[in-house]
Amino acid sequence: MAPEIRLDKWADLYAKRTAVLKSSAIRDLFIVASRPDIISFAGGMPDTRSLPMEIIAEATRTVLLREGAAALQYGSSEGHLGLRECIVKLMAEDNIHADVDDIIVTDGGQQALDFIGKVLIDPEDYVIVEGPSYVGAVQAFSSYQAKMLTVPLDEKGLQIEPLIATLESLKKRKQKAKFLYLVPSFHNPAGVTLSLKRREAVLDIARKHNLLVVEDNPYGQLRFAGNKLPTLRSMDDSIIYMSTFSKIFSPGMRLGWINAPKPIIEKLNFAKQAANLCSSSFTQRIVEEYFNNYPWRKYLEKQTKLYKERRDAMLQSLEKFFPQGATWTKPEGGLFLWATLPEFINTSEMLAESINEAKVAYISGEAFFADGSGKNCMRLNFSYPSAEQICEGIKRLGKLIKSQIKLYETFTSKLHLNND
Ligand SMILES: Cc1ncc(COP(=O)(O)O)c(C=O)c1O
Repeated sequence: MAPEIRLDKWADLYAKRTAVLKSSAIRDLFIVASRPDIISFAGGMPDTRSLPMEIIAEATRTVLLREGAAALQYGSSEGHLGLRECIVKLMAEDNIHADVDDIIVTDGGQQALDFIGKVLIDPEDYVIVEGPSYVGAVQAFSSYQAKMLTVPLDEKGLQIEPLIATLESLKKRKQKAKFLYLVPSFHNPAGVTLSLKRREAVLDIARKHNLLVVEDNPYGQLRFAGNKLPTLRSMDDSIIYMSTFSKIFSPGMRLGWINAPKPIIEKLNFAKQAANLCSSSFTQRIVEEYFNNYPWRKYLEKQTKLYKERRDAMLQSLEKFFPQGATWTKPEGGLFLWATLPEFINTSEMLAESINEAKVAYISGEAFFADGSGKNCMRLNFSYPSAEQICEGIKRLGKLIKSQIKLYETFTSKLHLNND
């Protein structure tokens, strides 16, 4: 039977910007990766199974009994005042001294990214991102038709010389980037952290080039090794700072925030009104209650301890089962590490076999580059699978990679023989 061809009869109606919209590789894999027979390193999920459910139930009950009518009502667009006060306290731990009026609550970090794109990007504007970069940010900025300029990372985070070269090249062409977007601590997907020297250098360069910086810091509180580093926002109050409760508490609450200079917050507030009026009055109050009246640090420490054990299990398994020639980052916090395989391995092509045969899911490196590089790389999540699953999954993945190498060697040696 001939395959069914589905024509989209609404094709002429779509806005031009939808032409650049595409699905995220991470979202595409979500259902497959959730299958019980699959060991998944593909997600970006905090381990919500280890959260104190009784405590959260109690906090929810308290909110409903104490202020049920308001909790079940619309709220202000900038966000519930009590939660913004709580965010101010949270950021003060990172030496960020913000005013409640300089904060807007969003539906998670993802909505923050969308709003930043909405208020700053015109079609064809340049945005500088890291290579690799958080795929959701690239997706959000692309939906406003930004052109992405990629500056590479290494183990110390964003590389400074290529950043300068990118800015100089724009300047020569009498062009400018709208902003630089970066995840300085426990990067998604690379797992690396921007060194102090480079933090200072990025800010110096930004000042020199009058470049707006967006610091995305969802993982900063998830350090399990090494020394704390200052946030960029604590070093310079002209930058846009954003974070989320998703990784330090629960992504199900769908709450994040932006802290920015007042005029920018005002524009972001208009974006919020147009998008969804306000974030959930209910979950904002539950989060406020949990962070104000319960020992959330204790629960977070328990979680990060778990992540450290799992990271250690992953590092040990990689050492044991991955082939020579493969390298990987060694994160001091967060949820991910980044593995680089021999050049000739294409992790996107290998993924189907990995899922169907090895029953292991990961995200191919290509998904995190706006320019199509990263084909021989993969992002591996260690926060969700257990240490046993990690050992078994990396063992199976290592076996698959070794078989790919063997295939390549057999093929190339045959080619040599034929050429001799
Ligand atoms: C760097 C980064 N920014 C933003 C987000 C989105 O966070 P949220 O789940 O709060 O929308 C994520 C989620 O993984 C992320 O890794």
